[in-house]
Amino acid sequence: MHQFEQISTLQTQVKKWRQQNKTIAFVPTMGNLHLGHLSLLEKAKQLADKVIVSIFVNPLQFDDKADLNAYPRTLDADMTLLLDHDCDVVFTPSANVMYPNGMDVHTTISVPNMDDKLCGLNRPGHFDGVATVVAKFLNIVQADWAIFGEKDYQQLSLINRMATELNLSTQIVSGPTLREDNGLAMSSRNQYLTSEQRSHAAHLYRILQDVKARIELSVDSFDLIQQQAMSALTELGFVAEYLDIRRTEDLDRADRQDKSLVILVAARLGKARLIDNITCDLA
Ligand code: PAF
Repeated sequence: MHQFEQISTLQTQVKKWRQQNKTIAFVPTMGNLHLGHLSLLEKAKQLADKVIVSIFVNPLQFDDKADLNAYPRTLDADMTLLLDHDCDVVFTPSANVMYPNGMDVHTTISVPNMDDKLCGLNRPGHFDGVATVVAKFLNIVQADWAIFGEKDYQQLSLINRMATELNLSTQIVSGPTLREDNGLAMSSRNQYLTSEQRSHAAHLYRILQDVKARIELSVDSFDLIQQQAMSALTELGFVAEYLDIRRTEDLDRADRQDKSLVILVAARLGKARLIDNITCDLA
């Protein structure tokens, strides 16, 4: 396994593979790898001859400096996991390599109608930071496929929209959310939870499933279902930011005419901000 910190050395390797007619899949991450990331790596390996994983805690997507500083950085453990799982290349650029002119003056990408709702409302600038770094990575790596987790549903929608509208040549592929035995979606942020909170956090997924069951029953309005789910979260001790029923195609508010739905939630428990979602197909 190679580790590259510079764009030029990574690109030399990519060029070599291209000369050998190898296909390439790319998995961008912020490190602190868990089984969810490894499942994306496995998917990448199924698709392509060669796999590149990036590890970069992107400062541009953190609206809160304390959150950026506290973000778990576990490079040695990550490298061991990637080596064990036959990753071909790990790209670990510094912020200087990614933003040589500084972040304040860097060209940014924003994806309208995708970045200003749900998580975008409470995390100003977050999705511009995500779109910008992902566009840069896709341009740098020039992979055939890039794999993103469905747990970050809004991020995935935004990246799909950006890749289409900017005619990027890398195909965006998604991988399903991996869950703990109790249903809690795997996330690097789960380590901010105490073990008691970790079992309590499983209510988030249970509530999503309840909401889905109530949508399928077709009795109550979406507004009522959402309000009651928010109250249930509050009663359980979560500080809920939103629990919304949306259309999968554009993440706009859904009504009973819409058939392809996604239920998204963001809530704080203790020190962790947790997000999760499930889709609901009424067709
Ligand atoms: O999902 C993540 O880990 C990050 O948002 C990503 C896509 C690697 C961009 O920094």
